[in-house]
Amino acid sequence: MKDIYRGTLVRLSAISSDDLAKAFVQWDRDSEMRRLADSDPAQLWSENKLKEFFDKDFEKDPPRAYRFAIRTLAEDRLIGTTGLVPNLPHGDAWFFIVLGDRESWNKGYGTDAAQLVLQYGFVELNLRRITLGLHSYNDRAFRSYEKAGFRMEGRMRGEGLRGGVRFDGLYMGILREEWMESNP
Ligand SMILES: CC(C)(COP(=O)(O)OP(=O)(O)OC[C@H]1O[C@@H](n2cnc3c(N)ncnc32)[C@H](O)[C@@H]1OP(=O)(O)O)[C@@H](O)C(=O)NCCC(=O)NCCS
Repeated sequence: MKDIYRGTLVRLSAISSDDLAKAFVQWDRDSEMRRLADSDPAQLWSENKLKEFFDKDFEKDPPRAYRFAIRTLAEDRLIGTTGLVPNLPHGDAWFFIVLGDRESWNKGYGTDAAQLVLQYGFVELNLRRITLGLHSYNDRAFRSYEKAGFRMEGRMRGEGLRGGVRFDGLYMGILREEWMESNP
């Protein structure tokens, strides 16, 4: 059987709250990364506080998210985190991804990881659809999601406000049958 955690450039791996806290305390220093990834005000947390947050998240039963670390195949380097927040009664899940270190952007890693998570969602969780949201100014993410197979579904006008400028929220999705068509 195929290794569902291994792509062509990256693999999905388990991640501990320790590893996540250590990584995010570094990654969050890059305010552009944080403002692309999140709509909450950018904030700097201590490693202890981050670990406490992730510990609480991991204790939830059933888990809030199927969360994976993203590691490069070439160097086994931790470059980000991704996963799905499921809404299983509806066969739906929300996709999320962050490559924390900007040195890893634009190298195909994010698209490869997204394709693995889509496969996980449709093959292991038997989902009906996978949905995501992004800020309208995040052109790189939009392009990467399109390459992974997501389609544009909606635009919430003026959803957010940053630096005095309103921006839209974009919503993309992929249905099971669309994914199956390109992954026979
Ligand atoms: C978004 C993210 C996951 C994408 O992963 P990635 O590995 O950088 O993406 P890829 O290299 O697979 O693809 C990026 C694509 O965007 C294109 N791109 C890059 N900058 C762009 C820009 N300013 N405008 C339009 N396209 C752009 C690249 O050329 C590439 O497309 P191509 O292969 O057709 O040339 C990653 O960059 C990331 O985590 N960024 C910071 C946090 C973030 O934005 N998270 C997503 C929150 S919704």
